[in-house]
Amino acid sequence: MHFMLGGQQASTYQRGRNQLAAALKKSPQAVDALARFDRFAPDLWDGLAAVYDVEIVWPAVLDVIASAITARPSALIERDRIRQLQPDWFQLPETVGYVAYTDHFAGDLNGIENSIDYLKDLGITYLHLMPLLRPRTGENDGGYAVADYKSVRPDLGTIDDLESLATSLHANGIALTLDLVLNHVAEQHEWAVKARNGEEKYRNYFLMYPDRTVPDQYEATLPEVFPDFAPGNFTWDESSQLWVWTTFNSWQWDLNWANPDVFCEFVDILTYLANKGVDCFRLDAIAFLWKRLGTNSQNQPEVHSLTQGLRAALRIAAPSVIFKAEAIVAPSDLVAYLGTGEHAGKVSDLAYHNSLMVQAWSTLAIGEGRLMAQALQRFAPIPTTTAWATYLRCHDDIGWAIDDADAGAIGVSGYDHRAYISGYYGGELPQSPARGAHFQVNPLTGDRRTSGSAASLAGIESAIEAKDDQALDLAINRLMCGYSMIFGFGGLPLLYMGDEIGLLNDVTYRKNPALAGDNRWMHRPHMPWDVVAQRNSRATVAGQVFARMSALISARKSLASLHAATAPVVFATDNPAVVAFRRRHPAGDLVELYNVSAQTQILPTHSAWPLNNANAIDAITGSLVDLTEQTITMAPYAVWWLTAQPS
Ligand code: GLC
Repeated sequence: MHFMLGGQQASTYQRGRNQLAAALKKSPQAVDALARFDRFAPDLWDGLAAVYDVEIVWPAVLDVIASAITARPSALIERDRIRQLQPDWFQLPETVGYVAYTDHFAGDLNGIENSIDYLKDLGITYLHLMPLLRPRTGENDGGYAVADYKSVRPDLGTIDDLESLATSLHANGIALTLDLVLNHVAEQHEWAVKARNGEEKYRNYFLMYPDRTVPDQYEATLPEVFPDFAPGNFTWDESSQLWVWTTFNSWQWDLNWANPDVFCEFVDILTYLANKGVDCFRLDAIAFLWKRLGTNSQNQPEVHSLTQGLRAALRIAAPSVIFKAEAIVAPSDLVAYLGTGEHAGKVSDLAYHNSLMVQAWSTLAIGEGRLMAQALQRFAPIPTTTAWATYLRCHDDIGWAIDDADAGAIGVSGYDHRAYISGYYGGELPQSPARGAHFQVNPLTGDRRTSGSAASLAGIESAIEAKDDQALDLAINRLMCGYSMIFGFGGLPLLYMGDEIGLLNDVTYRKNPALAGDNRWMHRPHMPWDVVAQRNSRATVAGQVFARMSALISARKSLASLHAATAPVVFATDNPAVVAFRRRHPAGDLVELYNVSAQTQILPTHSAWPLNNANAIDAITGSLVDLTEQTITMAPYAVWWLTAQPS
């Protein structure tokens, strides 16, 4: 550690420590908390010093931290102790995530408590409940327009219900993740109301301009996130007569993170929710936090300093808590969210691997894996204390983030490839079995994103409609091929609610005027518990998918080589239709082979190195695979997770 401060700064730093010591004087937590201060305060200081006048913000932040430590319930202090003994808990092969809307999955928070057995049955140990804090009324972007961070959406329950749910989840070995929407608040949030009413302090929480001069300067280089329903990045606010920065919808007001008060507010919110039992925060739209003229105002270096500061504050106040970055950005910008350079290992613990998700769908559309291998091989390594959050589907659309350079490296045009796969999944190509829809078509950039459930995108919906059993088998295999990549890559796999029973698109949202304009709701279905009740019957699609998903989860949990600290090597085998993930691990090597095509494929056995020349066992089905011949043959969409046969 090179942390050295001189003169005035050293004494400010030390005063902060004394301040914490004084606040905790009588607390049995004082010794541990001060040890955590000594360990993490340098990260906090550096994060703050990079963006603020640290001398001023330091005592204010420590004040919030001290109150949070004092308020931490004893059961969570015990949880902190256990997590600190196993800091890699989220990297373990045993950790499996599930993502659900509280109401769509189980009605309300009490309903979730009643669904714990179902989750345990499936092997889930990490539950992300989609936004559930009190949003604005009317349209609220699926809860991503928060009006109050300290209360729960009334129809879902109360803060006490949330706390009691967290306790039950913990008792059943399940960690709880909530969204922390930190780029913006709802225009009804009290900060926004006060800003609108002219309170200077709160005007400084937002980015507000008297005329178009500054907004137009920024607009020159800003992209649009929702060009269809929220064009532009600024909204005229009638009552204050000011232009407000609104990257997303007009009623989601971007916060001014250059203001240290905003930082302190969020330390307060984070620790408040952490003290209710939240284990992990999904940092929503984190890439957008810092604005810089002349840029696209995404991925700015300050974002990482701010995240480092927030994480260090939490490590001192609630050390079992981790962060998951939602940065849906270009591959070259992504690794920084897990920490590169001075921030290595000091920012988010998890980050969504949107590239893996895009490559999985892309490879299944074209039936060959060279582009996937090229794109994933180019990724820089991640800190060994972090993990990718891997997923095939989530509540959002799929943005086809295929890099032009990657496409060029295998001799295809990035633009043409993006046009092809968005057409393939967006329901445009007659030969495609996928049933999705375009989201936010941007004629200026040619960009078309895609909505649709995993099962519908994989072809299950069209096969059922056509009553074509063969196509249905193929579609289930295609879905499972994609999900196997997600479970086998290494990292924390996230199962999106309903995918375990192959739920199709749900278009009932169109009847609700508050949702009708946003087709992302087609892949946010309600859990049909009558179907779930039949999950053990192989006679239904739901039963078949459920059995396959359960087998995949069990296989994953049995493989030490899937610990996230081991990086996979992804490569195209000599047969371009078969992609391989190789994971070398002291507890035993794992070679995963994926036939991403709808045809039978033959490939040389040396692709399975270092397991060739012997028999291997497929960890998913338990079957023996003969690797002593020259070649191996894989059925359409076959997946093999090969391990050495025990001697
Ligand atoms: C994230 C969410 C998305 C939301 C946006 C704005 O990207 O996943 O659903 O629209 O942030 O909060």
